[in-house]
Parts: sequence; structure tokens; C-alpha cells
Amino acid sequence: MPQKTTISIIKADIGSLVGHHVVHPQQLAYAEKLLEEAKKSGLIVDYRVFNCGDDLELLMGHQRGENNLEIQEFAWNAFKEITEKVSKPLKLYAAGQDLLADAFSGNIKGMGPGVAEIEFEERAADPIVVFAADKTEPGAWNYPLYKTFADPFNTAGLVIDPAIHDGFDFTVMDVYEHKEVQLRCPLEIYDLLALIGTPGRYCISKIHRRDGFIAAAASTSRLSLIAGRYVGKDDPVCIVRAQHGLPAVGEVLEPYAFPHIVAGWMRGSHHGPLMPVSLKNARCTRFDGPPRVVALGFQVHDAQLEGPADLFDDPAFDKARAMANEAADYLRRHGPFMPHRLGPEEMEYTTLPKVLEKLKDRFRSVGP
Ligand code: 13P
Ligand code: 13P
Ligand code: MG
Ligand code: MG
Repeated sequence: MPQKTTISIIKADIGSLVGHHVVHPQQLAYAEKLLEEAKKSGLIVDYRVFNCGDDLELLMGHQRGENNLEIQEFAWNAFKEITEKVSKPLKLYAAGQDLLADAFSGNIKGMGPGVAEIEFEERAADPIVVFAADKTEPGAWNYPLYKTFADPFNTAGLVIDPAIHDGFDFTVMDVYEHKEVQLRCPLEIYDLLALIGTPGRYCISKIHRRDGFIAAAASTSRLSLIAGRYVGKDDPVCIVRAQHGLPAVGEVLEPYAFPHIVAGWMRGSHHGPLMPVSLKNARCTRFDGPPRVVALGFQVHDAQLEGPADLFDDPAFDKARAMANEAADYLRRHGPFMPHRLGPEEMEYTTLPKVLEKLKDRFRSVGP
């Protein structure tokens, strides 16, 4: 039997150039060096290093399976070393931001970095799309993953391809309670939507075809819930397999033609549109945003990554970007008012409670 392939993307914000804008070229170069060494040592088969805004993305092809300790420890040590050797000496902004532990302790997922992994037996041809976002949270994937895998108005294949006509099973994480539930779609789409319409709490973590075939995996770490305080947004990643018995690449990308509203943006405290961009435009500026997403396509062969194809580098997404700019203008005019600013439960994990604490003693009782 051929050895299974695993694609892992492990990411962290370990400091950036000019505020929370972009990863520094020296951080990228250092990461390349470490990953090349990991390839030569046989730990991984192939890799790509890239960034979405201020988040450093380590994409790896290997044959060690999901949740592999050696892979996780390697990624953790790489982030630590780049922080010490590059971020700190250059005094990059928020050096080591997402590294919430001192030393690797067995599960990188609870330590700050975001992880998405898929293990599979390679098909005759195996296209994948790797998504990475900046200035938002894992629940940002709920809307597009629902559209791709459960909405026939998005995915023609759900209607006309017998291989996916039976639908998909969605695994949803409750990130507050650390519980998960699997929902069978289309039968349970209303139950699914009842959960994932609250993206700050319920995040899609995995999607399988009815016959158990793995189709998608997304990161679910919420930094503020791990740390109990504001430490920047999670800036999630997601891997989606496509074609030949799965949604086509175009059906995977189609949801991003609408720049839906996500939580994040300035100080992780505002709603804004998720703008699909090419790698060269994966850099947040206006009000530290608006939130961005890149999509990189690869053909996987023997755990090697052929690509990337920079899939949002296309005028077909110009209208989505224009719409995102319109929505950004509209929301910005609300200034500090909800619903531009996040609601009170989410603001608990920002610096706002300190401001409210100061006013506590000045409230006088005034009866009903
Ligand atoms: P500081 O400027 O105090 O770091 O806070 C704003 C911010 O960017 C939060 O990450
Ligand atoms: P990041 O989560 O991308 O570090 O952004 C933090 C922030 O406070 C932006 O205003
Ligand atoms: Mg940052
Ligand atoms: Mg970021």
C-alpha cells in the first residue's frame, strides 16, 4: 500500500515590520533555511514558506501523519529561533506575539500557533487549495466552507455530480467548551447553520465526504481564549482538497466573490469585510485592514507541492475587492459604535475592560 501523504500548515505571528503589517524578508529567509534543513534531514518531503500579512506560514508535505510530535516540535522551535535570531534583534513589532508558552510541551495547538492538517492517500491527481487569512479568527472559514460543501447555489457539483450528491459531514468545534459535534449535511444543514452562524464560538474544523473521504481541515485556535487576554487575532489557515469527487477548484473559490463580514481588523476588535487578495497584496494597511485572505493552489505528488498558483491574483475577484472597500467605508463611519466594534463578550478579551474598570465607582444607583 502506498504511504499516506500529510499536508500540514503551521503558522504564527512572531513579530512584523511596521506595526502589524508584514513579515520581514529576513524572517522569511530564516524560515526557508530551517525548512530546507528539515527536508535534507528527511523530516519533511517538501515545503513552502509564505506570509499573509504579519503571519508567517510554514506549509509542509510529509509522511508522518497528523498531530505528529516531531513536526510540531520542529515548527515550534523554528518560530522560537526566528524570534530570537531575527524578530528581537531587529526590534520587529510584537516579537514572538503568538508564542504563548516558554517551551514545547507536546501539543502546539494549545500554545498559540495555528495548525491545519490533512492526511490522505494520493489520488491520480490531487489538487489542494491552502487558505491563509490575516486580521481575523477561525470562524471566518464558516461561511465559505458552508457555501462550498453545502450550498448548491455555490457548488454545482452537489446537484450534478453523483460522487458528492450525498453530501458532506461537518465537524464543528465549540472553542469555549472544547467539544466537537459532527453534522450530516444536507440532512442537518439547519442545525449546522444554528451553530456556525456564531463564528466566534463554533468553528468548522473538518469536512468529510459521506464515505469518510477527508475534504477539508481548518485551524481552530483562539489566542485570546488560550491566553485569557488580547494577544492579536488568530489569523487562521485552512486546507481544502478539490476535484474528482470533491468540489472543483472554482467551487472552492466562489464563496470569496462575496467579501463577507468577519471579526478582527483593528486591535482584533472590529467587524470588517474579508478581502480576497494575491500574495503581493496580503498586507493590511487601512485601519490595520481590511482583513485579507490568500488562496494558494498546489498539485500534490508523493508529498511534494507543485505550485503555488496564486489563485486570487485574478481580475475575476476585482469586484469582490471593490465591494470590500465599499463595505469597509460604510462600517468605518460607525467609528467606535457596534456593530463595527465587536460586541461585549468578544470585547472582554481586549483592553476595554480596563477602561470600564476605571468608571466602576462613578456609577450611582438611580432606582428602576
Ligand atoms: P499596542 O500598540 O499597545 O501594542 O496595542 C495595539 C495593538 O496593535 C494590539 O496588538
Ligand atoms: P494581528 O492579529 O495580525 O497581529 O493584528 C493585531 C492588531 O491588533 C491589529 O490592529
Ligand atoms: Mg501582529
Ligand atoms: Mg496577523
